[in-house]
Amino acid sequence: MEAVRARYSALRDGDFVYLDAPGGSQVPDEVGDAIARALREASANIGATYPSSHRVEAILAQAREDGARFLNCSSDDVIFGQNMTVLDFALSRTAARDWNEGDKILVSRLDHDGGVSPWVELAADKGFEVEWIDVTEDLRLDYDDLERRLDERVRVVACVGSSNAVGTVVDVARVSELAHSVGALCWVDAVQYAAHVPTDVQALGCDVFICSAYKFCGPHLGLAYGRHELLESWRPYKARPAASDPVGRRFEPGTAPYELLAGFSATIGYLESIGGMGAIAAYERWLGERFLDGLPDGATVYGLQTMDGRVPTFLINVEGVPAAEAVQKLGDRGYGVWAHGNWYSLGLREKLPYPDDAIRVGLIHYNTADEIDGFCAELARL
Ligand SMILES: Cc1ncc(COP(=O)(O)O)c(C=O)c1O
Repeated sequence: MEAVRARYSALRDGDFVYLDAPGGSQVPDEVGDAIARALREASANIGATYPSSHRVEAILAQAREDGARFLNCSSDDVIFGQNMTVLDFALSRTAARDWNEGDKILVSRLDHDGGVSPWVELAADKGFEVEWIDVTEDLRLDYDDLERRLDERVRVVACVGSSNAVGTVVDVARVSELAHSVGALCWVDAVQYAAHVPTDVQALGCDVFICSAYKFCGPHLGLAYGRHELLESWRPYKARPAASDPVGRRFEPGTAPYELLAGFSATIGYLESIGGMGAIAAYERWLGERFLDGLPDGATVYGLQTMDGRVPTFLINVEGVPAAEAVQKLGDRGYGVWAHGNWYSLGLREKLPYPDDAIRVGLIHYNTADEIDGFCAELARL
C-alpha cells in the first residue's frame, strides 16, 4: 500500500482520507505526467509528416490497444469520448436512427440519470416509450420484472453495471441474454462497474458498454465498447472526410483529446502494474468487509448488507445525525464523504426510505485498513 500511495501526490502525506471515489478518484502523478508530456511533445494533429504528428498517432494507437485490453475487446471496437453522458447521448441517437414510433426502451431503477436521460429525450423526440425495470426490496435488479416487460417492441435494455448510489452489481450477462431473447440490445452504463470489477465485454455479452476513466484513477475521458457488427451497421454522425477506420473511430467526431488519451494509457499501465483489476477487486472486497464489520450500531446501510453482489460503495445514515451535518463534521475531522438526496438515481430515490439525504462512502484500492478503521471510529463518535 505504501508503494502504491507514494505514486499519488494527493495521498502521500496521508493527512486527508478520501472516501468518495465514486464521485471521482484521486489520480497517480504518472497520469498527470503523461498528459503534460503529450502536450509538450505531441501537440499536433494526425496525418502530418513531422515528428510531433507521428507521436500523436502513436498515442492514439496505444490508447486503443490499452482500452481494448481493459475491456477485453478488439481495439477496432473501442470508442473514446468526452465522458459517459456525452457518449451515451451520442450513441443512443446513432443506434435509434431507424427505430419506429411506439418502440420501447427499458431502463432500470438502479440507473444513474446519465444513462436514463439520453433515452428519455430520444423518446420525447421520436415517440418511443420508456419503462422502468423495478428493484427488489434489497435493491437488486428485479430480473422477473425485466422478463415481464420484454416483448418484440423492446429495442434496448439499458442498465448500470453497478449502482453509483448503493453499490449493487447487475448480472449483465443475464440481462444480455434476456434482452437478446426478444432481439433487443443490452446497453450498459459501466461507470461504476469498470472501476471495481474486471471487465470482459465478451463474457458479459452486452452490445454497448460505456465507462469513464476518472472513476478509476484516470483523466476525465469516456470510453465505450460497441459490438463490432453493430458499429458497422450504424450510420455515424461525423464529418464526411474524417477517418472511418477502425470502425470505432466513426463515432469519435472531431479531434480527439490526445493528451488525455496519453493519460488514459498511463492509467491502464498503473492499474496493471499493481496487479490488475482482479487483484484490485479482491482487495476491495476485503476492505468493504472490514467497513461493514466496523460500522457502529447506529448506522444504517441501504440495500445489500454484505459484500456479495456489490462493489464497495455504500449509502448510509447515522441515527440522529442529518447526513449534511455528518459529512461536514467528518470533513472537519479529515474524512471526505458526501451527502446527497437522489445521487442522480431518480428511479432508485423513490425506493429509498430516508427523508432528505444520505451519506455515500465509496472505497477504492488506494484506501487502507487504517483509514476504514478510523472512519468507522468517527462514525461511532457521531
Ligand atoms: C453510474 C454512473 N453513470 C453515469 C455517470 C456519468 O458519468 P460521466 O461523468 O462520465 O458523464 C456517473 C457519474 O458519476 C455514474 O456514477
